[in-house]
Amino acid sequence: MTPQEEINQLTDKLNNLNFQYYQNSISEVTDFEFDRLLVQLQDLENRHPNFVREDSPTHRVGGTISKEFESVTHKYPMLSLGNTYNAKDLADFDERVRKGLGGADYEYICELKFDGVALSMWYEKGTLSRGITRGDGVRGDDITANVKTIRTIPLNIQAKNMPIRFEVRGEGFMPLTTFDALNKEREDIGEQLLANPRNAASGTFKMQDSGVVAKRKMDCYIYQFLSDEEIFSTHEESLLRLKEMGFNVSQTWEKCKSMDEVLAFINQWDKKRFSLPLNTDGIVIKLNSFAQREILGFTAKSPRWAISYKYQSESVSTLLESVSYQVGRTGNITPVANLKPVLLAGTTVKRASIHNANEIIRLDLHVGDYVFVEKGGEIIPKITSVDFEKRTDKLDNIQFPTTCPECGTSLVRKDGEANHYCPNESGCPPQIKGKIEHFIQRKALNIDNIGTETIEMFYRKGLVKNPADLYDLKRENLFDLDGFKEKSIQNILMGVEKSKEIPFKQVLFGIGIRFVGATVAEKLAIYFNDIDNISKATLEELLQVPEIGGRIAQSVVEYFQKVENQEFIARLKAAGLQLTHNAVEIVMEGNTLAGKTFVISGTFQNFERDDLKMKIEANGGKVLSGISGKLNYLIAGSEAGPSKLEKAQKMNVSIISEDDFLKML
Ligand code: IVH
Repeated sequence: MTPQEEINQLTDKLNNLNFQYYQNSISEVTDFEFDRLLVQLQDLENRHPNFVREDSPTHRVGGTISKEFESVTHKYPMLSLGNTYNAKDLADFDERVRKGLGGADYEYICELKFDGVALSMWYEKGTLSRGITRGDGVRGDDITANVKTIRTIPLNIQAKNMPIRFEVRGEGFMPLTTFDALNKEREDIGEQLLANPRNAASGTFKMQDSGVVAKRKMDCYIYQFLSDEEIFSTHEESLLRLKEMGFNVSQTWEKCKSMDEVLAFINQWDKKRFSLPLNTDGIVIKLNSFAQREILGFTAKSPRWAISYKYQSESVSTLLESVSYQVGRTGNITPVANLKPVLLAGTTVKRASIHNANEIIRLDLHVGDYVFVEKGGEIIPKITSVDFEKRTDKLDNIQFPTTCPECGTSLVRKDGEANHYCPNESGCPPQIKGKIEHFIQRKALNIDNIGTETIEMFYRKGLVKNPADLYDLKRENLFDLDGFKEKSIQNILMGVEKSKEIPFKQVLFGIGIRFVGATVAEKLAIYFNDIDNISKATLEELLQVPEIGGRIAQSVVEYFQKVENQEFIARLKAAGLQLTHNAVEIVMEGNTLAGKTFVISGTFQNFERDDLKMKIEANGGKVLSGISGKLNYLIAGSEAGPSKLEKAQKMNVSIISEDDFLKML
């Protein structure tokens, strides 16, 4: 078999397995086997980039960095929908439809109104060719690389008798579970929380690194088919066919023959919608027949054949009894509202998050106020406004504390940041315990068998005041503790020992530098290779790492400037943790670059930085992180660091382009 045939065969096989998995819930192979085939395909594609197919499943894992998204004109404008809020408005809509159709019979399809961002996917000869945002309805951004990471969007359609070109539209969304996990992770690293899943989805789809998008496991419900050829006569037919073709059509739609049936659909989903994997804010009522849709046509902004009905968001007014302040792992202070318990959407609400001091001012909150509380897709309900009608004259102002409620240290608030935080990293109890919890979590050092209560006890007994202390734990220390039996002691010590094999990127995440999440840690680990290079890196060098902005770079520099952190790292080193990145095993391609050294700066047309690094190493070359007199080449891409270029010139290092490099090969 030629490499091209092999690539074709693997691409088809993996796409088919994906279809079976998402469409029919059938796993024909194990996850392990699937990943093995994917790696095999990726390897073939690396060696024969000319044969990579547009519908290659390797695009699902992302990796494309888009500098700017191309603006694309929609073939059919992306309109919005008129809104209704009550049965009367709906009856008016129905009346307009009835009149417009001159008394003919008609049916509606009712769907849920998904709260995400509208996406348009173009297919050409059965292959997904573009994924575009709604934009202003006339033009949107081409975010194909990001759309391809959505596993429920087929990259290729096998169906017969489909037009050469067609388009599907749907709502791209971040599943609520992903949203909650992402916010938990952001809280953990001291990042501002994302306001809601819709904003999170819209921000994610506009990210430049599709690899990060892939990690967020976005999804999309398809609700529309468009093409120049008319192949369906009803919306119902199109939905059934789309589902059959492998699109993710939410199975919540229903055909309604009367307004009574529409109202029943609305009632049925009023509460049930909270069990869906995403937020919904209403329903959409669409005329079923395409011929009848044509008769009704459009207004300037929206179709006359469809309308949305918005649910009233359930909101209750309750007393704000007090505000308490929680201290997070990175010292972030979060105000929490203590409310008079009240029933909301089936659960009793006692607390609501207030995010930060600005929010107290924005809402004009006072202790003793009655406040409106609403539940969105988030776990914790939020205060939407003050019930001013119930405000009495004399209410206590909310004084944001000036000192830490846990350790009494003066709080700081950096310019431009909304959050106050306690700087007493090594002495503030919740910060210390939080750091240990962060360190042992699955994505970091993965030391299971140590739970929150054990950390609490270790801390109270003075056994562990810093994650590095875990590596000094001895059997005899643990034997003295209440409730610790031989088995649990063994498990803890074994977990600690095993953590010494955890890869560097996870260790780097685990050490808990403010703003350094798992993804950023991975990027730093790959770019700088080991902890010493990172600790020595200047602000400018850190800014060279893809996706690393000023705030993260500054935080990294500040972290390594502190003597106590240097000591902490030295202890981890002494304990034998992995503090060097073990790159994936490189498949050697040749020896053309043997003995030659390279530094990479900027971004490139044909390569991701990591791929370029791998290419150099696969051909016998070596990649260095800094410029010195011994260096042979600086490969400068677009936006290469000016100081690197200057230094290379001064030291007579050859500065070459990406093309020069390819010629060398
Ligand atoms: S149909 C001509 N169906 O609502 C409009 N839209 O206000 C065709 N949306 O931009 C849209 N769920 O982002 C349709 N089941 C659904 C929907 C839905 C959510 C969003 C969509 C659209 C906006 C219109």
